Amino acid sequence: MTVRDDQHLVLVGLMGTGKSTVGRVLAQRLHRRLVDTDAEVEARAGRTVRQIFADEGEAVFRKLETEALAEALDSVPPVVIAAAGGVVLAPENRLALKRAAAKVVWLSADPSLLVSRAKAAGHRPLLDADPAGVLEAMAVARQPLYREVAHVVVSVDGRSPSEVADAVLR
Ligand code: S3P
Repeated sequence: MTVRDDQHLVLVGLMGTGKSTVGRVLAQRLHRRLVDTDAEVEARAGRTVRQIFADEGEAVFRKLETEALAEALDSVPPVVIAAAGGVVLAPENRLALKRAAAKVVWLSADPSLLVSRAKAAGHRPLLDADPAGVLEAMAVARQPLYREVAHVVVSVDGRSPSEVADAVLR
């Protein structure tokens, strides 16, 4: 897949698919800055994702996430964006992704293979209770949304971050 010099490269997909890690590899290879929307939300709010969920609730987090995505898509020069798993939920975000000068890549995975990887991180309060069940349900609910925004689908199953990056750029 070719990413034009005037296009952002956006990674979407479920928690644990390696968007941030693969994003780092791709940013290095393309000599671009990596923008991670979770990190941007935390910087804007001055609180962790977990704290925002706990203190203000998911709706407030989603609003900050929409702002972070819009800001990332406004970056000059183009960047690599590791978009948090839930960005596709808001129609406004999906529209922004479709309208942007961007190549959107869906890192897809078998949700059962994501459980051990995804639950490890502290910024995923939604996985606290039942990671396997939640990831399974998210996969069903979100697959059509990832498909809607993505230009390319890359499976991460059985691939290292570097191999996923190779597949994205191939
Ligand atoms: C979420 C994904 C997380 C984080 C939050 C909610 C989701 O980001 O934004 O816990 O709803 O899929 P990652 O996809 O980077 O883990």
